[in-house]
Amino acid sequence: LGALQAFNAYEPRYVSLDTDDDGPVIESLETALKQYRPKFTYLAPTFQNPTGRTISLDRRQRIAELAQRYNALIVEDDPYCALRYRGNAVPPLKTMAPDHVVYISTLSKVFAPGLRIGFCLAPEPIHRWLVIAKQGVDLHTSTYNQALAAEYLTGNYLESHLPNIIGLYRARQKAMFDALEAFMPEGVTWTRPEGGMFLWVQGPKGLDIDRVYEEGLRRNVAFVPGKYFYANNGQGLETMRLNFTMFDEGTINRAVETLSEVLAENI
Ligand SMILES: Cc1ncc(COP(=O)(O)O)c(C=O)c1O
Repeated sequence: LGALQAFNAYEPRYVSLDTDDDGPVIESLETALKQYRPKFTYLAPTFQNPTGRTISLDRRQRIAELAQRYNALIVEDDPYCALRYRGNAVPPLKTMAPDHVVYISTLSKVFAPGLRIGFCLAPEPIHRWLVIAKQGVDLHTSTYNQALAAEYLTGNYLESHLPNIIGLYRARQKAMFDALEAFMPEGVTWTRPEGGMFLWVQGPKGLDIDRVYEEGLRRNVAFVPGKYFYANNGQGLETMRLNFTMFDEGTINRAVETLSEVLAENI
């Protein structure tokens, strides 16, 4: 929160991009780059939080070309790429425009969130300033936590842990897909990501998501209303982010059944 407050103290202007199932719409990105010359464009190209969407290979190549043509900077936030349950990996934007992309990721999803260890690959001039800025904020990342991370990464633990959580999450994701298919009322649609932690559910126009949320909570089912992920008020009013990694298949099945009942009562 401290970092976000510091960021907002500079009164940044947020410009949102139009998106479709393949990622940001190219015309929308190009217009934004031309019109606003942004300091950077933030993208989470693989299993995005909140939608679970992945930017297609073709779209990534076009984004990389635009970044080079307009000498623009992209921040590629990529915490979920290792959590793939089906399909083939898509190369990071960083590999396509290395001088225009700051790649950031974290051990939070594949080791332990409480460790607070992330990492970054940045073009040299930016890397230098990031180091200075981080020193200004916290002097350094906990040495003890870094030692744990080093042991985890060099001691083969990641290689043995990943298949475990991938197997666990794949089954939970499937349980959620199956339950959505079985219980959701007409007019409700959802994404089908090949990995990550989230699905994005779209309800029919006019759905009162706050009522669905309150009633869901009363019946012990929680989700994040999608509107909180938008830059502007009034967008994404009928959307929800669902997480499938937290609970076992039986719980997921019951939760989706309950949520479907609440939705049916409100459509
Ligand atoms: C897109 C995205 N970026 C970054 C993070 C943050 O990870 P960390 O725990 O390293 O702050 C998350 C985790 O929720 C995320 O969804």
